[in-house]
Amino acid sequence: MDPNAIQEILNKMLLLEESQVTLYSALAAKAPNEELFYGLQRLAKIESDHVKAIENKLKSLFPAPEEAISNLKNALTDGGLKIFGSTVSAVQGLTGLGPLLRAGAAAEEKAMADYRQHIAQIKDFELRDMFWEHLIDEELHYFWLKKKGEQLN
Ligand SMILES: [Fe+2]
Ligand SMILES: [Fe+2]
Repeated sequence: MDPNAIQEILNKMLLLEESQVTLYSALAAKAPNEELFYGLQRLAKIESDHVKAIENKLKSLFPAPEEAISNLKNALTDGGLKIFGSTVSAVQGLTGLGPLLRAGAAAEEKAMADYRQHIAQIKDFELRDMFWEHLIDEELHYFWLKKKGEQLN
């Protein structure tokens, strides 16, 4: 796989992970009880670890001159702000616990599908390793959110 394609995938997953941090922080703020508050905060922390892992991978694979790094940061900030805006407005439209948990589960399904798709394309061992770890984390999040939702019924 050519380096540009890999860089593109990493940038895309970075934005997706950043939007997950935003989503769970926003959901935690709306959590109706202590257990869900801590659970959603924990999910936000794990997504933030995913962000850091991808950022480190980008830095090690693509050591760029300062100007290029600052251009990339600006591009990511612009993209990130758009995702942040749409994530926050989507969450603000939600009331009640069921829809909140379903929003989280839907976000995880999207992340899982993306990781699976990229794992099928990528040959680099270290990158596959990181993506598998993230994918399994997302699956655990998905099942946690689903189970918490079912327990409400
Ligand atoms: Fe994640
Ligand atoms: Fe997740």
